[in-house]
Amino acid sequence: MDDLRQKYLSAIAEAADEEALEAIRLAAVGKKGEVALKMRELGRMTPEERRQVGPKLNALKDEINAALAAKKAALADAALDERLRGEWLDVTLPARPRPRGSVHPISQVTEEVAAIFADMGFAVAEGPQIETDWYNFDALNIPPHHPARQEFDTFYMHRDAGDERPPHVLRTHTSPVQIRAMEQTGAPIRVIAPGRVYRSDYDQTHTPMFHQVEGLAIDRDISMANLKWVLEEFCRAFFEVESVELRFRASHFPFTEPSAEVDLRCSWQGGQLKVGEGDDWMEILGSGMVHPKVLQAAGVDPDAWQGFAFGLGIDRIAMLKYGIPDLRAFFDSDLRWLRHYGFGALRVPSLHGGLSG
Ligand code: PHE
Repeated sequence: MDDLRQKYLSAIAEAADEEALEAIRLAAVGKKGEVALKMRELGRMTPEERRQVGPKLNALKDEINAALAAKKAALADAALDERLRGEWLDVTLPARPRPRGSVHPISQVTEEVAAIFADMGFAVAEGPQIETDWYNFDALNIPPHHPARQEFDTFYMHRDAGDERPPHVLRTHTSPVQIRAMEQTGAPIRVIAPGRVYRSDYDQTHTPMFHQVEGLAIDRDISMANLKWVLEEFCRAFFEVESVELRFRASHFPFTEPSAEVDLRCSWQGGQLKVGEGDDWMEILGSGMVHPKVLQAAGVDPDAWQGFAFGLGIDRIAMLKYGIPDLRAFFDSDLRWLRHYGFGALRVPSLHGGLSG
């Protein structure tokens, strides 16, 4: 018994880890361990021997178990010490810079546009993105079955079967805000209305959700000449270069008469988009003199008031100004792209402080 004791206590003392300790436990005091085998021998002894040997065996078993438990605790302490040494931290090190958010180019450009038009006396108006077909179409002189309704690739909202009311639409342009703004304040009025619009369309220069800014100026004697000046003035301020070239093209919209579309000279060479040079033109806005029927629909007397309206593609002018060749990248949420093209949150655009910093 002394040999057993000697053997196991020194094995336990030398065990390097919990696994070795468990092997020793099984060999010594496990069900088939050496101490258990000795216990079994008790059955062949006389009662006298048994009374002597039994307690000693039990004491040996207890002693080995106690040694095992003590060694186990010592191993755990050592492991913890080891970990604490490894996870040492120098609290005097400077903090790592945290990843910063940035302002999306669309938000930046919207702010820039608002700053320029604010300087020309335009307030900012807003309207809902889910519109009734009255505001999106009828009030803008686009009655049901007018061919222009097809041209818009409209997204219609769901109506329950049997509900005969015309469905709501995701607004296809910001022009319904013309009506809402005139209803609210009447004439004279000078507002812009930036926001999201929706059309079922998708390629390098079209996404199903995009951004427009509507402009509306109504007064006693506003003319096409005022429209042209405002747009040219805007482009000069926005692109911050001298050589922006605009092209006014006669066009047609049901809600303006006469109407003009405006293109900007640009080049797409080598996948690079540049404004003010090259032989390409990018269409950036539709415009014209507000149709008398539109004024009437908004409760403004067309015999007393007149003015212009325009709808400018924010995403398009952002592509042109910041040389972003594919519109779809704006809405991919690719962090690397956002870090590259994003703007610092504290660089608020203003005419005196600089638009794009
Ligand atoms: N609403 C037109 C469009 O989205 C643009 C426009 C606005 C044209 C105002 C004329 C006047 O295409």
